[in-house]
Amino acid sequence: MASRPLADLACFDPDRFERHGYPHDVWTRMRAEQPIAWHDDGIREPFWAITRYDDIAAIGKDSETFISSPGVTILRRDQMIPANAPRVPLMLTMDPPEHHKNRMILRERFKPSVMRALEEHIVARCREIADDVAARRVGTAVDGSDGTIDFVEAIAMRLPLDVILELLGVPTDDRDQMYLWSSAVIGSEDPDYGNVDLPREAIMAAQQAMFGYFARFIAARRAAPREDLVSLLVEARIDGTPLTDMEILGFCFLLAIAGNETTRNATSGAMLALIEHPDARAALTADPAAMPSAVEELLRWVTPIVYMARTATRDIDIAGQTVRAGEKVVLFYPSANRDERVFDDPFALDFARKPNRHLTFGFGRHSCLGNDLARIELRAVLAEVLARFPDLALAGPVSRLRSNFVGGIKQMPVRLHG
Ligand code: HEM
Repeated sequence: MASRPLADLACFDPDRFERHGYPHDVWTRMRAEQPIAWHDDGIREPFWAITRYDDIAAIGKDSETFISSPGVTILRRDQMIPANAPRVPLMLTMDPPEHHKNRMILRERFKPSVMRALEEHIVARCREIADDVAARRVGTAVDGSDGTIDFVEAIAMRLPLDVILELLGVPTDDRDQMYLWSSAVIGSEDPDYGNVDLPREAIMAAQQAMFGYFARFIAARRAAPREDLVSLLVEARIDGTPLTDMEILGFCFLLAIAGNETTRNATSGAMLALIEHPDARAALTADPAAMPSAVEELLRWVTPIVYMARTATRDIDIAGQTVRAGEKVVLFYPSANRDERVFDDPFALDFARKPNRHLTFGFGRHSCLGNDLARIELRAVLAEVLARFPDLALAGPVSRLRSNFVGGIKQMPVRLHG
């Protein structure tokens, strides 16, 4: 076998993500010198690291050669799930034809026109959040002083969780509990939320707790359906057969996590970018009509999901290397979004960037079902914050999640008034 170019391990090291944020310098070098490189740190499953936009898009599009069912995340070797172990069915890790049948169930409810009808409600929710912040009803004072709060806790975490819980049809009073469960799944390798040595156990425990919680609602909606997503799932059929409780739980679990971790971190990351680019922020504050294109650029800039993995079903050449059947490829979305072959001056934050075909929501069959909702939420929350707290400024260092999967911000201390 020809020798494989070896990846710089810094491209996937969770400690580095926690300390410094995304390793953009490493990804930039990889795009230039080894756009496909073999990553083997002896701890996790080995994989091919893919860093160029065109390769990532081509792999995303070819869902016959690159499948999702063996898993879209890279696990530690001592935490691997045996192939025959029972698994929760998740659309994210299905292949055709099951994937299509499952996605069809939700597609209508997430289409742009349905999402646009929600916009007014989302804007009103943002106003309530800002009212609570202004009245100091939320937000721990990070340094004991009155004007300093944690942006994540007081603002960024609320909207996405409230919206997805409302869509599912479960009470928003349980938001904080849901936040902790969801953080344990996504932050399974972070000492604050998960278990650095046994991340799998942290995920399983949170998953069990979430399942117990959702099971009550599934039983209630089976007895008396309403208009919400749990009722839709209870009434759905695949090839004429109703979904099992386990299948419905899989949907609830996926939506509760995907609908909140991503948008929360996009919100915090976007606000941080605005704080760090005062000219762009001033221009946007002065011209709210620029918000949709600003949000696209902020989505490109932040790219809250670091990667998704695929498994090759046959031997195939990519960028001069042979990927063997059964090997994993990891698609680094933030790297695609800084690819100088596609974006002019990719390290400049440019709200007028056009076109802006970022891969923040993935590409192909599995591309994000909630992208319209996420865009509406981001526009609404950023518009409200810019208008209500024009002097909002950073009041201390940002603390980041120990994760190489989600670019998470755990805390972002801000001062509301100059
Ligand atoms: C800024 C916010 C968001 C980002 C960056 C994001 C990112 C992504 C990405 C990259 C994928 C592709 C997975 C793959 O290629 O395997 C995905 C899939 C998905 N997202 Fe999102 N997402 C966001 C918000 C949301 C929201 C608000 C929801 C739901 C309410 C949602 C629900 C889903 C679902 C259900 C899938 C699986 C689709 C499939 O497998 O067919 N996402 N998302």
